[in-house]
Amino acid sequence: MKEKILELLKASGNDFVSGQKISEVLGVSRAAIWKHIKVIKEDGYEVEAISRKGYRIISSPDILTFEEIKNHLNTECIGKNIIYCNSIGSTNTKAKELAEMGKEHGTVVISEEQTLGRGRLGRNFLSPKYKGIWMSLILRPNILTENISKITLLGAAAVQKAIMKMGVKTSIKWPNDIILNGKKVCGILTEMSGEIDHVNYLVMGIGINVNLEKEDITTDLKDVATSIKIESGKLMDRKLLLANILNIFEELYNDFVENDSIKETLEICRKNSVLIGKEIKLINRGKVTIAKAIDISDKGELVVENSSGNVEYIVSGEVSIRGMDGYSD
Ligand code: BTN
Repeated sequence: MKEKILELLKASGNDFVSGQKISEVLGVSRAAIWKHIKVIKEDGYEVEAISRKGYRIISSPDILTFEEIKNHLNTECIGKNIIYCNSIGSTNTKAKELAEMGKEHGTVVISEEQTLGRGRLGRNFLSPKYKGIWMSLILRPNILTENISKITLLGAAAVQKAIMKMGVKTSIKWPNDIILNGKKVCGILTEMSGEIDHVNYLVMGIGINVNLEKEDITTDLKDVATSIKIESGKLMDRKLLLANILNIFEELYNDFVENDSIKETLEICRKNSVLIGKEIKLINRGKVTIAKAIDISDKGELVVENSSGNVEYIVSGEVSIRGMDGYSD
């Protein structure tokens, strides 16, 4: 009911909506409306209430609820069901629980903060309140397991393109990171449940450092992580950024599952690659090798030239660049 009242008030913009009208349209008593308005105010909305005129919204909080992003959202499926949390351990953990219970494809779990945010390789992921976008998408693609890594690339391409649309140029560090001025602003953690050749579901967790201040970045991360706000000097509209990511992701995703094409994703990843042309360190199951990144293949693999001059196709693994991620030798 609270959401419905909010929707009604938002739809009327600056105009007042009378208690009578709300009560008629939604079939609730005046007393009940008053109670819901109280909760709406507690959520951070500034609501003006004038007797004989009714209610109107003066300002909305900077929160990532469906109600707040839906005007920017033009997807058919991705993000149409948003599970919004004020605080949670990890959105990936929650999304996996929900996926196990059968939650539908396209559901997005989002939280204003994570207290146990998870990164790759068992690392922690810093996720302070109201400062970033910490979300996990539940996806149920009918694809072979060998194609899962492409989904992460779709996510990286969508995030890069969406941030670009908002005026900030970032680069992609194949396959999971978004880099701004040499430091990480976004990481992606894709987890899956499936059998040898069949995917039950995927959970793609995306963490974006949007409006963190310098002091929000913990000392251990100062050399490797930054935020869009720190680098651009401007606050970025988190609601618009979130909706843009979901819109772009759905387009890229549909092209992939319907046409088996990742053409645009590859264009974005190649054009904005931070690796291509660089000498890199590849870390795979503890084994470290030095190579030169030369391209991203049509299948989304990283193409490298190894120290013997042979070309190799890398499907997954950790990558460091000389001068970044502590790789300086
Ligand atoms: C990495 O860079 O190592 C991956 C980071 C992934 C972080 C996101 S934030 C939302 C989702 N929930 C998590 O616990 N992790 C992912």
